[in-house]
Amino acid sequence: MKLIFLGPPGAGKGTLAARAVDIIGVPHISTGAIFRAAIAAKSSLGLKVKAIIDSGKLVDDGTTIELVKERLTQTDAKKGYILDGFPRTIPQAEALATFSKVERVINFDIPDDTVVERLSGRRVCKGCGANYHVTFQKPKKNGVCDACGGELYTREDDKKEAIQKRLEVYRAQTAPLIDYYRSAGILVDVDARPQVEAVVANFKKAMGV
Ligand code: AP5
Repeated sequence: MKLIFLGPPGAGKGTLAARAVDIIGVPHISTGAIFRAAIAAKSSLGLKVKAIIDSGKLVDDGTTIELVKERLTQTDAKKGYILDGFPRTIPQAEALATFSKVERVINFDIPDDTVVERLSGRRVCKGCGANYHVTFQKPKKNGVCDACGGELYTREDDKKEAIQKRLEVYRAQTAPLIDYYRSAGILVDVDARPQVEAVVANFKKAMGV
């Protein structure tokens, strides 16, 4: 199954994807996670995108499209994928259509105030990238990842000004993809407001599994 997770920042795309990989058996490909790994490794890509990501703006289409195109040639993506955070613009969606045929788009339906609450309380593991929340998804030990024991930190783009910028960018550049994929007949809305287990159940219902 070739799937896109579409939704505003902090909608819970990464959290659901971590569960959905076992449900549908395809890899989770997050462009944001790939960029953050490049930043941590101080690679040329990381150095190029760090300031853009920290400020909440989008990386240019050319760089992002090439990255995804290359990633989808890897063996694990042959049977399908969950693309999380890509496409994010109409040109990215048009480019994707030239090298892969998406079968379904899950649109995370969630209001802005819930997004702000989720992002401002998010903590991420420096080691494995797992997501936590100070209220909704607490680690067993404060500040420490349950999965790998890594240190939890607050993403630079989860600071107040960057959250507002990301929401603006989402409305202007990414939200038009909802109509784009709805008119293609492959978009399914999922209510992303409830707690994680209920969102997983909504996803399963949407997928018919
Ligand atoms: P990216 O990493 O893709 O960020 P995003 O889309 O803004 O999404 P997030 O990771 O912030 O949120 P999420 O929806 O995954 O929510 P999560 O599950 O963590 O991109 C980062 C940056 O990279 C972009 O701003 C851009 O600069 C660049 N970039 C990436 N892709 C690009 C592209 N295609 N083109 C150009 N630039 C690109 O959940 C959030 C919090 O809520 C967590 O704390 C979690 O524990 C909690 N939570 C999740 N679900 C629930 C729930 N159901 N109930 C309660 N709490 C919940």
